[in-house]
Amino acid sequence: MTLRLVEPLTDEQLNTAYSDILSPLAWDLGHIGNFEELWLVQTIGGREPMDGELGRFYDAIENPRSTRNELPILRGDELRSYMEGVRERTLEVLDEVELEDSDDSLLRDGFVYELILAHELQHNETMLQLVQMVERYEPAERHAPGGEHELSVRGQSPHTLLIEGGGYEIGADEGGFAYDNERPRHIVDLAPFEIDRAPVTNAGWIEFMEDTGAEPPLYWQRNGGGGWVRTAMGETRDVDQSQPVVHVDHVAATAFAEWAGKRLPTEFEWEAAARAGALAMMGEVWEWTSSDFQAYPGFEAFPYDEYSKVFFGPEHKVLRGSSWATRQGVIRTTFRNWDLPQRRQIFSGVRCVRDV
Ligand SMILES: [Fe+2]
Repeated sequence: MTLRLVEPLTDEQLNTAYSDILSPLAWDLGHIGNFEELWLVQTIGGREPMDGELGRFYDAIENPRSTRNELPILRGDELRSYMEGVRERTLEVLDEVELEDSDDSLLRDGFVYELILAHELQHNETMLQLVQMVERYEPAERHAPGGEHELSVRGQSPHTLLIEGGGYEIGADEGGFAYDNERPRHIVDLAPFEIDRAPVTNAGWIEFMEDTGAEPPLYWQRNGGGGWVRTAMGETRDVDQSQPVVHVDHVAATAFAEWAGKRLPTEFEWEAAARAGALAMMGEVWEWTSSDFQAYPGFEAFPYDEYSKVFFGPEHKVLRGSSWATRQGVIRTTFRNWDLPQRRQIFSGVRCVRDV
């Protein structure tokens, strides 16, 4: 899927830094391969690094996004053959390992394989953020409209859903794959609240902008006649009023909720509502919550501090759900995404709640 995503792109496009806050796609590709090599080939397989010091340039913490195009990263055919080489060795190692009943917590139930798969799938979404900026990108495959994404609750009555107060189980249980930050599962007491059945639409956002002078979402422009158009992948189209608003930041999302006489949900309210069945919480837009990204009580970093632990704190806000660009394999109600409150390159939208 990763290779199909970049299939329509030239090497020059893969090597272009389109934005200071997104990596050139060539870096993402090399990093996906290197992360797989690090964990599945070196750590699990006990093999020596394939390409000396290469790993240093693909360390996401050491190399901020704005610097990544200056690094001596792999490009072109070198990059493609490195990725192939990693996958070949990964499959060799996989033949040798024992996953069932392993004493090694990395191998138990295939955890580290799920981790590497989830990592690659999540990078596909980051890569799609950048693909928005590539002129005339034509996907190698298009899904016919319809299917599960047609499921929509927009326009359904009532427009809100009452969630009873009480203790709710939050977070992932022991079984199955989840990130360290989703665990341990614990009970959170919630007061009753009412949640919108659908995310805020473009029509709602336009009303908010007209009323308050708020900023348009990323990629929007005036069409000359007073309306709004949106440009993605070099194509400019009228803004579809009925679609969820996307590419708005946390600050604006909070302001919207206040303007609407509501507020953003906490991430716990969001998860409780997702379990209670407020529909259309998945596969449209990520939804900003009012919660800071913090460790759950009893949190243990696994398998390394740099996945979640170094990001805990009030500077990052939690987003919940998933977007149209999220791969199926990483969508779950307990998943916690996070970003800085001023960021809007992610496929981020808004859903409001109200106290009752
Ligand atoms: Fe990564």
